[in-house]
Amino acid sequence: MDKMWAGRFSKALDKTADDFNSSISFDKKMYRQDITGSMAHAAMLGYKNIIAKDEADKIIAELEKILADLECGALDIDESCEDIHMFVEKVLTDRLGDLGKKLHTARSRNDQVALDLRMYLRDKTDEITALLKELVSVISNKAEEYKATIMPGYTHLQRAQPITFGHHLMAYAMMFLRDIDRLADAKKRMNICPIGSCALAGTTYDTDRRFEAQKLGFTSVCLNSMDGVSDRDFCVEFLSCAALIMVHLSRFSEEIILWSSWEFKFIELDDAFTTGSSIMPQKKNPDMAELSRGKSGRVFGDLMTMLTVLKGLPLAYNKDMQEDKEAVFDACDTVKMCLEVFTPMLATAKAIPENMRKAASAGFICATDLADYLVKKGLPFRTAYKIVGSAVGKCVAEGKTLETLTMEEYKALSDVFEPDLFEAIDLDACVEKRISLGGTSPQNVQMQVDFARNEIKKY
Ligand code: ARG
Repeated sequence: MDKMWAGRFSKALDKTADDFNSSISFDKKMYRQDITGSMAHAAMLGYKNIIAKDEADKIIAELEKILADLECGALDIDESCEDIHMFVEKVLTDRLGDLGKKLHTARSRNDQVALDLRMYLRDKTDEITALLKELVSVISNKAEEYKATIMPGYTHLQRAQPITFGHHLMAYAMMFLRDIDRLADAKKRMNICPIGSCALAGTTYDTDRRFEAQKLGFTSVCLNSMDGVSDRDFCVEFLSCAALIMVHLSRFSEEIILWSSWEFKFIELDDAFTTGSSIMPQKKNPDMAELSRGKSGRVFGDLMTMLTVLKGLPLAYNKDMQEDKEAVFDACDTVKMCLEVFTPMLATAKAIPENMRKAASAGFICATDLADYLVKKGLPFRTAYKIVGSAVGKCVAEGKTLETLTMEEYKALSDVFEPDLFEAIDLDACVEKRISLGGTSPQNVQMQVDFARNEIKKY
């Protein structure tokens, strides 16, 4: 097909070069944004009398039809066009003749692509935010259900102190709440309109950029036309947010995989979200969690792609920037796909409180509480720590636990011990007493749940 820019050239573009140069196979995703942007542009051209008002109206009406035709399948995207911008303009010109050729007045594909991508990412940011809110809500419901369910808390993957399952879950809710907030923050800078920057230097036409920006729901306009066409910070910011979402999903997935193993058996995933093995009949594999963990790698790669593409690019537009879209699209699709499966997987998972409690009952998990007990009786913490260390050592050597040592054995270690020490190492009491702000007590978990439920209403 003849290129829009064919006039300057004496030869057609080499076929391989043409394929290499083309972006329509992936930027066709932005057809809706491209057409909506063009409608606002035509409206501005008419409003400013750069083209006649009735011409603008005809262009807008035809663009609306093109959009409807694409949505219902009456029109197919012709991949022999270089990109989605060229395709829309070509269909418009095929249908309206010379009038269609007026649309590209006072703009360039450079500001057009920057506009489309910002609009596309703005939509995706909203979609991902909605999915994150749903996830936080599911986590909060589970946390409320299990706010008093005792499990071991770990450091170094060694049993450390007793916590509630609800508290552990709410740690993730806090991470996802920050992800929601980060996306909202990134959206502020994404939501600035580049159209009207034109190729790089602005234009001699008497345009109204604020009119277009307002029509398209942007909060303001880019104030430097070179920055307007060259800036892809908004992509980097979005990808950083996406990468962190994946870090959080991946850590959570890792725990779900551990918890559903026979070694832990703290949870049981629903059959609908697990797979079997082709050879081992007993297997029930947490593939959804594993894939969420594994797919984080692609999103980190997308972020690195974007940073590397931008680094070293002179102002203003360079074709390298066409590489932005696949990275961004891949991250959008991956994050959405993972959240869409992760949330129902979590919602349908069942906790097995008996196993959690059993794991918390072994391993001297209340040793800190026993030391704190001695401190409350007046011993300095370091002295108390040493005495409890000896008690643990004795238990390990004799195959006992802190609960099964006798009063005489305790007295032999320190005469500060009284029979009330056994209350100090009671599992439920250990958790219920951790009422410091942000601590694991059931009442604190409820407070976190209430907080999270309220927070998600703000976005
Ligand atoms: N397909 C191009 C991209 O994705 C659109 C902008 C083309 N601009 C140009 N000067 N060749 O970046």
